Formats: sequence, structure tokens, C-alpha cells
Amino acid sequence: MLQEERVQPGSHHSFDHQQDIDKIIDLCGRDRSNLIQILHQIQNIQGFLPLETLRQVAIKLDMPLSEVAGVVSFYSFFSTEPQGRHTIRVCLGTACYVRGGKKLIEKLQEQLGIELGQTTSDQRFTFEIARCIGACGLAPAVMIDNEVYRQVNVNKLKSILAKYE
Ligand code: FES
Repeated sequence: MLQEERVQPGSHHSFDHQQDIDKIIDLCGRDRSNLIQILHQIQNIQGFLPLETLRQVAIKLDMPLSEVAGVVSFYSFFSTEPQGRHTIRVCLGTACYVRGGKKLIEKLQEQLGIELGQTTSDQRFTFEIARCIGACGLAPAVMIDNEVYRQVNVNKLKSILAKYE
């Protein structure tokens, strides 16, 4: 019996890696000039791009693995690690830096128990920095997913984080 499994974009569960990667490559066109588009599509469905995925893409496109891995590490929107359900970006642009952005980073490292670039073990947050998110007048700013928090100080962090499951 044929069973069709529907995969929602952004759902990281029912992903049959091998088959779906093959399908995506065939849909985009099995050509190395489509590499970035292919990686995008796979990351949309799978959430991240582990080494095994890169290897499979390299074989299918007849490219060296090192070249595929090089592209993935060049673009910051690609990730080889599982991402948290929410992404915290502390702005370290000039205005935010001088008005306490660095302190926010230190406090968040302490509260989340992770370093920059890492994801909490419960997969709740991924922690990153940003370079100016357009709120310089009300620095320091923090962005969580698509929400911008302005004039954040270390005392506000706990209650802001509590909004996110
Ligand atoms: S420098 Fe942080 S919002 Fe512009």
C-alpha cells in the first residue's frame, strides 16, 4: 500500500531524508547552479543541514562535498545544527553596543546557559547577534523571532524570555 506523507514547511518531523532530498533536487533541477536553491528548500523542510544531507546533495549534483560544505558555511542563513524554536538576536551595532548590548549578551549567556551561536538543549532558543536592527534611537535592542524589543536592560530579560515556550 502506498502511503503518502505530507510534510509541512517548517515541520521537522516526518521528513524522509533520502527520498525528499532526491525529490527536491529533481524539482529544482539536478545542476550545481541550483545548489543554493536546493539547500534552501531542504533547510525549509528539515530545519537544518546536517553533514549527511550535504553528502547526499554532493553525490546527486556530482560535486565535491567540500564545495557544498563551503557554500553552507559561507552563507549565515544556512545552519548545520538544529535550531531552537525561537531565535534571540541581541543587537551589537554601534548604538546598542555602547548602550549596554554587551551586558545583555553576558546576562543571556548566563540565563540560557549557552554561548553565542548555540541552541539550548531543550531546543527553546538559539542565541545569535545582529548588526543593527533599525532601533538605534531606542538602544539597546533585542530581536526574538520577528519581534523587536527596545531599551532592553538586564532586569527585563527574564520576563521577555518567559513569553516564549
Ligand atoms: S545599532 Fe542596534 S538597532 Fe541599530
